[in-house]
Amino acid sequence: MSEFKMITARNSQKTSANTVLISKNIADQYDIKDNQQISIIVASMRKDYTAKIVSSTKLKDSLFFAPNTLRKLYLTSGRRYGARIDDKEIKLGPVVGIMSDVYGENGKPFGAQSFFIRQLISSGRRLGQICFGFSPYGINWNNKTISGYTIGSQEWVKNVFPLPDVIYPRERAYSSSARRIRNRLESQGAKLINPSLIGKWQTYKILSKNPHLVPYIPDTRLITSFKQIESMVKKYQAVYLKPVNGSQGKNIVKVTKKRGSLGYDYQYVLNNKVFRGSASNLQQLRRYLSRIMGNRTYIVQKQINLIRSGGSILDVRILVQKDNSGQWGITGMAGRVGRKGAITSNISSGGHGRKVRDVLKRNFDDDEKVEEIIEKIRKIAVESAKTLEETIGKAGEMGIDIGVDQKGEVWFIEANLRPARQVFTLIGERNTRMKSVVTPLLYARHLANFD
Ligand SMILES: Nc1ncnc2c1ncn2[C@@H]1O[C@H](COP(=O)(O)OP(=O)(O)O)[C@@H](O)[C@H]1O
Ligand SMILES: [Mg+2]
Repeated sequence: MSEFKMITARNSQKTSANTVLISKNIADQYDIKDNQQISIIVASMRKDYTAKIVSSTKLKDSLFFAPNTLRKLYLTSGRRYGARIDDKEIKLGPVVGIMSDVYGENGKPFGAQSFFIRQLISSGRRLGQICFGFSPYGINWNNKTISGYTIGSQEWVKNVFPLPDVIYPRERAYSSSARRIRNRLESQGAKLINPSLIGKWQTYKILSKNPHLVPYIPDTRLITSFKQIESMVKKYQAVYLKPVNGSQGKNIVKVTKKRGSLGYDYQYVLNNKVFRGSASNLQQLRRYLSRIMGNRTYIVQKQINLIRSGGSILDVRILVQKDNSGQWGITGMAGRVGRKGAITSNISSGGHGRKVRDVLKRNFDDDEKVEEIIEKIRKIAVESAKTLEETIGKAGEMGIDIGVDQKGEVWFIEANLRPARQVFTLIGERNTRMKSVVTPLLYARHLANFD
C-alpha cells in the first residue's frame, strides 16, 4: 500500500478560487513550475488552476485549495488521496462507486450488504480513494452526479458524488434496466469491476467449451420440457434442478429415483425449511415439480455425491480476485457444510464454515490425496474465471463453488459474480476477509490507471 503516491488535500483561507498551492517536494519531483497552468482531476470533474509552489518544510506532499474549491472537488481537508501526477495534471482518488440495491432501512441503507459496503468505504479511505455506495436509480444524468451514501464519523450520511472512475457492481438484478445503466456509466468513462450477471446456463455453456474444464463439469441441460428431467433422472438416479438466475440455494430441488420401484423422491427448501415428497409415477412427479418450479427457467444437473462433514453435505467456496497487478489470484477458500438434511450448503440457508484442509483430511486418509485435491480446486477455480472472462468481458472477482465427491473427484458447481465473503469470518480467517474487501479496491486503482 505504501508504494502508492499519496497527497494530502488542505484548506487554505488565503488561496484564491482558481489557484492551487503545491508543496515544493511534489513540484520538484514532477517538474511543475510556479505560475504554470495545471489541471486537477477528481473522477468526472476536471478544473484548471494556476500552480503556486510553496516551500514550507512542514507540509510536504500537499495541495492547498480555497475551501469552496475543495468542496467542489469532493475533497475533505486533511485527508490523504491517491494521486497520479505529471507536469500537466494531478488526478486524485480514484473515485469508486459501489452500486447496490438500496433498501433505505434506517441505519442499513444497503440491507444485508451494509456492513460489507461500510468496510469497503473505510478501506477505500485508507487507500486514498473516494468510496461511496449508491443505487443504480440514484444517478442524475443531467449534471453527472450521483446521490449516494458514505460513512460520516459513525453513521451513514447521504451525499452527492461525481460519476466515479470505477464502479463495483453489487446489485443482484438481472434486469435489462440494470444493464442499460451500466452501459450508460461505461459510455461516460467509468470502468466496471465485474460484468453483468450471466446465470447458470450461460456459465455452463461457456465453460464446457474449454476442453481443460470439461472433465470437471457435471452433465447439465437447460430444461425446456419435462422429458429432460425424466431422462437425466434415469441416467443418474439423482439430479439437481436449479433456477438459472437463482442464488443462495433458493428454489433448488433435488430429485431421486427410488431404488427398486417406479417412484421418485424430491426435496426442496422453502423459507429455510426442507420439504420432502414422493411421487409414485412420472405424471405425478411432473405435477409436483411444476408447482414448485413455477415459471422460472431451470437447469437440470447430475447430482454430485458430495463428501460429508458430520453427516451433512459439504462443498468448497473459493474466492478468486484481481489486485492492482491486474492478475488473478486466490484470496481464500473455505468449506461450507449444509444444515442437517439440507440439499444445499449455502451459508445464507443455514450452512456453516469449516477449513478446507480439515474437512478433506477427515474424508481422505491420504495426505497426498488431500493436497492433490486442493491443488485441483485452485486450478479449476482460476481456469474457470479466466475462461468466463474471455466471453463475458473483463472481471475482477468471482466466488467459485466446487464440489468434491466421495471418490475424491473435483467438480465445478457454479461461478458467482457478486460473491459474499462472510464464510471467511465464520472460519476465523479475519485476514482473508479483510483481504477480500481490499483486493477489489486495489483492482479499482489498476482500472483507473493509477499504477
Ligand atoms: N449437482 C449438484 N450435486 C450436488 N450438490 C449440488 C449440485 N448443485 C448444487 N449443489 C448444492 O447446492 C448448493 C447451491 O447450488 P448452486 O449451484 O451454488 O446455486 P446457488 O446460486 O443457489 O448458490 C451448492 O453449493 C451445493 O451444496
Ligand atoms: Mg452457490
